[in-house]
Amino acid sequence: MPSVKKPLISIKGLHKCYESKKDGTIDALKDVNLEIAEGAFVALVGPSGCGKTTLLKILAGLVDNFSGEVMLNDIAVTRPSPEVGFVFQDPTLLPWRTILQNILLPVELMHLDKKQYYDRALMLMETVGLKGFENKLPTELSGGMRQRAGICRALIRDPKVLLMDEPFGALDAMTREVLNGELQNIWLESKKTVLFVTHSIPEAVFLADKVVVMSPRPGHIEEIVDVKLPRPRELQELTDKKVGKILGQIRQHFENFSMNC
Ligand SMILES: Nc1ncnc2c1ncn2[C@@H]1O[C@H](COP(=O)(O)OP(=O)(O)OP(=O)(O)O)[C@@H](O)[C@H]1O
Ligand SMILES: [Mg+2]
Repeated sequence: MPSVKKPLISIKGLHKCYESKKDGTIDALKDVNLEIAEGAFVALVGPSGCGKTTLLKILAGLVDNFSGEVMLNDIAVTRPSPEVGFVFQDPTLLPWRTILQNILLPVELMHLDKKQYYDRALMLMETVGLKGFENKLPTELSGGMRQRAGICRALIRDPKVLLMDEPFGALDAMTREVLNGELQNIWLESKKTVLFVTHSIPEAVFLADKVVVMSPRPGHIEEIVDVKLPRPRELQELTDKKVGKILGQIRQHFENFSMNC
């Protein structure tokens, strides 16, 4: 019998509520079940406040006090792991450190040998078009370049999983499209497992193998939509009839959510 490969990420019956002095108990996630295979690119979409960031933070070991099972590589997630890189909406680079020093920060924080990661940092910077900017300060870079640096920093320790929380949300449309293409290339080459949160349905469909649609809070999974399009993808393909159908299928959920508000 062929062996069935276990998913790299497995979430079962996940509930998360926050206790707040002002608002009491806030149910953020309710019975979330999700499996992500190694090397998959999964996008997560859902209305604001439905728990997308919470889900990512739980996977990153940054939020605890949840119930249910959250496994990474067969190990329960209880704290941050070097197997996981996190890209935030705002790259929050330290303004007094050069771009290279910012990218090497996770290595320094873990007291690892910086020399060992130096060449990798340069290679990553070259991949995302930051070659030559090693010694610049964050203020000397554009928003798109800073976000590229944030991606390099998340990849510096060669994690298996890349969690990305609306990484391109603050960028202009043109830069965003360029970075979408670059991210696809990085993913095709590195075969990382990516969980990517976005408010843009076209961005989700362009990038992902599967788009997970979450309901309004408390967030649970409404549908997982397969995007079976060949790679590498081109942005123009988003106007294809087949893609239009997928976009429509996802948009329908959002229309239903707003009708039920
Ligand atoms: N630390 C916290 N304490 C209390 N409530 C919180 C906390 N973090 C998040 N929440 C609440 O949990 C719910 C889910 O928040 P979360 O940030 O995960 O949503 P989201 O889907 O990422 O939203 P957005 O799309 O706006 O980024 C929200 O109602 C939010 O107010
Ligand atoms: Mg969020």
